[in-house]
Amino acid sequence: MQLEQAIVISQQPIQGGYSLLHLRSPGIASQVRPGQFVHIKIPRLEECVLRRPFSVFRADGDTLTILYKHVGRGTRGLKDTKLGETLSLIGPLGHGFPSPQKDCFPILVAGGYGMAALYLVAKQSPVKGIAFFGGRSAQDILCVPDFEALGWTVRVATEDGSLGQQGLVTALLDDWLERERTNETPEFFVCGPSGMLKAVASRAIARAWTAWTSVDNNMGCGVGACLTCVLKVKSGEDWTWARACKEGPVFNAADILWEEIE
Ligand SMILES: Cc1cc2nc3c(=O)[nH]c(=O)nc-3n(C[C@H](O)[C@H](O)[C@H](O)COP(=O)(O)OP(=O)(O)OC[C@H]3O[C@@H](n4cnc5c(N)ncnc54)[C@H](O)[C@@H]3O)c2cc1C
Ligand code: FES
Repeated sequence: MQLEQAIVISQQPIQGGYSLLHLRSPGIASQVRPGQFVHIKIPRLEECVLRRPFSVFRADGDTLTILYKHVGRGTRGLKDTKLGETLSLIGPLGHGFPSPQKDCFPILVAGGYGMAALYLVAKQSPVKGIAFFGGRSAQDILCVPDFEALGWTVRVATEDGSLGQQGLVTALLDDWLERERTNETPEFFVCGPSGMLKAVASRAIARAWTAWTSVDNNMGCGVGACLTCVLKVKSGEDWTWARACKEGPVFNAADILWEEIE
């Protein structure tokens, strides 16, 4: 983990209120592992002292790319950054995804910008698998060609039917598991809204398959000090608190007390 002054090298609105932000950040780009995140100080947002967490979508040489959705003051501030401007980043933070096991079939499941946490998993995986992307509409289905270019198959579901199969991404996943799955044991890598994480986790746990889930809890410090981001995880017969920013954001789904997650 380090504090780095990153330089904005391009800012690219893509679709439906999402943007790509390319930053020259050689220290963090060279260290980041799949599923880790950076904590960004938003410029000109003096009344908001808290940094904002974003998954590292891509890391290429000395450049890292963030894919973000414009939702509030922080992300609007990020959108207003100019080429050449310096941003203060802390990272890479958190425990990311493990490398997919060679004797399993890797399955990525993403809701909306959740795919940003999964690209480096796909890139570094020794086995090419299948990715299921879900969103409200076609506008929430992002960067499919990036995953296809790595040799992954991508299937899409949208709630309004504007792209791919109409309905939830978990229904699309269920169809595939029932009709097309080979004999290899699935291993899941999941990032998205908590309802989707829960739904995939329950499917995996019921069949004793491994699912790695990245939780998107609100964060304060991002480095394990403030306890803003805690969730309950199993500890033997009992439970304990875990910090999403430090022990996570990626947890083995079997360890999370899902009944405590809204
Ligand atoms: C580990 C981690 C990784 C993340 N990676 C990404 C990423 O790769 N790309 C990305 O776009 N975001 C990501 N997020 C979420 C991102 O941090 C928040 O969207 C951001 O902090 C919102 O800041 P804001 O000031 O713009 O919004 P705020 O002013 O904090 O919130 C504005 C409004 O938006 C709502 N809101 C806040 N967050 C979200 C959200 N995530 N989705 C929908 N509504 C929201 C709030 O409830 C509020 O109503 C990640 C979060 C975590 C914890
Ligand atoms: S955000 Fe402060 S402990 Fe996790």
